[in-house]
Amino acid sequence: MKATIDKIITDIDQFVIKDTKSLEDFRIQFLGSKGIVKNMFGELKSVPNEEKREVGQLLNNLRLHAETKFASFKEQLETAASSDASLDLSRPGDSDEIGSRHPLSLVRSEIIEIFERIGYAVSEGPEIEDDWHNFSALNFPPEHPARDMQDTFFIEKGENEMALRTHTSSVQVRVMENSKPPIRTISPGRVFRNEAISARAHCFFHQVEGLYIDKNVSFADLKQTLLYFAKELFGEKAQIRLRPSYFPFTEPSAEVDVSCTICNSKGCNVCKYSGWLEILGCGMVDPNVLEACGIDSKEYSGFAFGMGIERITQLKYKVNDLRLYSENDVRFLKQFTPGM
Ligand code: DAH
Repeated sequence: MKATIDKIITDIDQFVIKDTKSLEDFRIQFLGSKGIVKNMFGELKSVPNEEKREVGQLLNNLRLHAETKFASFKEQLETAASSDASLDLSRPGDSDEIGSRHPLSLVRSEIIEIFERIGYAVSEGPEIEDDWHNFSALNFPPEHPARDMQDTFFIEKGENEMALRTHTSSVQVRVMENSKPPIRTISPGRVFRNEAISARAHCFFHQVEGLYIDKNVSFADLKQTLLYFAKELFGEKAQIRLRPSYFPFTEPSAEVDVSCTICNSKGCNVCKYSGWLEILGCGMVDPNVLEACGIDSKEYSGFAFGMGIERITQLKYKVNDLRLYSENDVRFLKQFTPGM
């Protein structure tokens, strides 16, 4: 038996493997289910008991010997196959296409940076809001039309009726409830309204809310902050004008126009020949809102403002169809690749 094992080891060593066919022949002959090694193990039972242990050991070595040769030739053949002689190392590689940032995120970042430079922090709140944060704390009377089903998406959440927030003003309530003045914060985020989708309206869009609360904050501070913002965003020549308006959460309230950057206020179809473009709503935070959020309205005052990111992006990049922002057409998106 021992002599046979030695002979098989020599056979293994002398077996020439030169391709996958001879590798497979080797496997069948030595390691297959009817191969030599298996047969030899079968013969172990005819070995006298006292030699079984030693012969068993030799058979294990034999099997290992065959397996090692098989594995190393297999690897050699595979490596040879992958290092194909036709490989051309001088061939230029395929470059990955570089993506671009979405125009809305570009503009959102720019707005955030402008306010961060004058000490504003960024805060965020949930998109699914309760009535208190979206409406009641913001001084919306119960019968206010903005609570109407037509504008707001209401959803059931457990026992509660919740709303998809209709504006980021809800975040100012959360910030005031959770921190003490002085407060200087901007809150970018997505908002939802039950509107038919068209070039000029969408059921979701993005806003940035601003809030400044401290002692002795005045309307002049608000105007100066917004003028600074307009000049940083649209250039040194930009001017603003404020028109009286109404929001439940601010008193007095105003709508802000910026001088038309497209025609330099000469009059064009974007500004409808008025020379001005509306960009945001603002006002002094209503004392009712301060009190609802736990801030003493006799000690503190403040201003708030809110703007649509799509609107600002439309003015900066002259994109006049809101649907383009959410269709993810690469022909649109790749125009915003840096350097193009
Ligand atoms: N929340 C308003 C809207 O969605 C925008 C707004 C107006 C926000 C005046 C304010 C503000 O903070 O003071 O139309």
